[in-house]
Amino acid sequence: MEQIHISYARQWIEDDDIQQVVQTLASDFLTTGPQIERFEAALCDLTGAGHAVVCSSGTAALHLACMALGIASGDTGLTSPNSFLASANCIELCGGRADFVDIDSYTLCMDPEALADYCRNNSAPQVVIPVDFAGTPADLPAIQALGREYGFHVIEDAAHAIGSTYTHNGKTYQCGSCAHTDLAIFSFHPAKTITCGEGGAVMTNDKVLADRLRMLRNHGMVKSPDLTSDAADTDLHGPWYYEMHALGANFRITDVQCALGSSQLTHLGRFRDLRRKIVHTYNLAFKDDDRLILPPKALAKTACPHLYPIQFVRGSRTRKRIYQELADHRIFCQVHYIPIYLQPYYAKKYAYSRGKCPEAETYYSRALSLPLFAALARDQVAYVIKTVKELL
Ligand SMILES: Cc1ncc(COP(=O)(O)O)c(C=O)c1O
Repeated sequence: MEQIHISYARQWIEDDDIQQVVQTLASDFLTTGPQIERFEAALCDLTGAGHAVVCSSGTAALHLACMALGIASGDTGLTSPNSFLASANCIELCGGRADFVDIDSYTLCMDPEALADYCRNNSAPQVVIPVDFAGTPADLPAIQALGREYGFHVIEDAAHAIGSTYTHNGKTYQCGSCAHTDLAIFSFHPAKTITCGEGGAVMTNDKVLADRLRMLRNHGMVKSPDLTSDAADTDLHGPWYYEMHALGANFRITDVQCALGSSQLTHLGRFRDLRRKIVHTYNLAFKDDDRLILPPKALAKTACPHLYPIQFVRGSRTRKRIYQELADHRIFCQVHYIPIYLQPYYAKKYAYSRGKCPEAETYYSRALSLPLFAALARDQVAYVIKTVKELL
């Protein structure tokens, strides 16, 4: 093995990716050109969703999704506490209040029972954002059923789950298909399964929402057709005429990034198989160790695994020691995630405190994500396993 440095996640860029980027750099369009639609079409092909709107990041995608649904002051949005900040911040950025429902201790995703409890005991939220944690699909059909009962919209945060599938009533669906949600989002950060450098996408089957997302992505601007202002007819204006119909911003992604994204997408099947193989190897190595709790089984079977989160039964001291000692062995793990509501912004603003979501807190206290990425070599996986076993 070369000089050891194993991080928890890493992109895999190959020659064909580089060629696509170079060709785009030499083309007429660096942004708002043909690579945008090409990448959007490929995402629709993959997921089966009717529309894809690509944008500058997964964070931008969540923000756009909440804007498109009209989330505003006085609204409440619910998400999983076991996620990255962006899953909640999108609600706050629209002026709403982010609140949290606990996770299921097995799937580590939002617990539909906890969501049902919330809806029974509080006024219903306007939007719910389940997160496909580590690549494991959240229970979207159950959450959609609650959405119909209580009248909320659903945005699937599939930042971890491109290429994952789930089965409902005998039929298999891709994460991001929006078969059971109004909208879904992906992230193409380099830590994710495929990357654009930075990038994101919003998926939907609703054309009205898709049109609104495209408008908001570009400052809320509308060029013909259907301009409503009489001003468009005067001599003062001409074919250059545009109108702003809503408050948007620049959420655009470049053609260079989308060329990379389209090329990476052609590798998704291989990346998924390699990731599953690593998950399987970790599972086999650790399965009889009762000091560890392994990730849900779906991760090796139907998911395209993004993370490999293990839990140390002995708790946070063991986790901290092993995190530090793995770093001494040049294995750089991560912890996903500190329950979002314990962040000072949320804790101070809403008096959220410890005990609010006990399952997410217990999980956080003992979790560690071991290295997982498609290019992780077999001897590196063996080295991680051997080191973890020794340190335990
Ligand atoms: C679950 C989840 N949602 C949203 C995001 C935001 O994506 P991005 O980093 O592309 O803005 C992330 C990124 O880490 C994430 O893990």
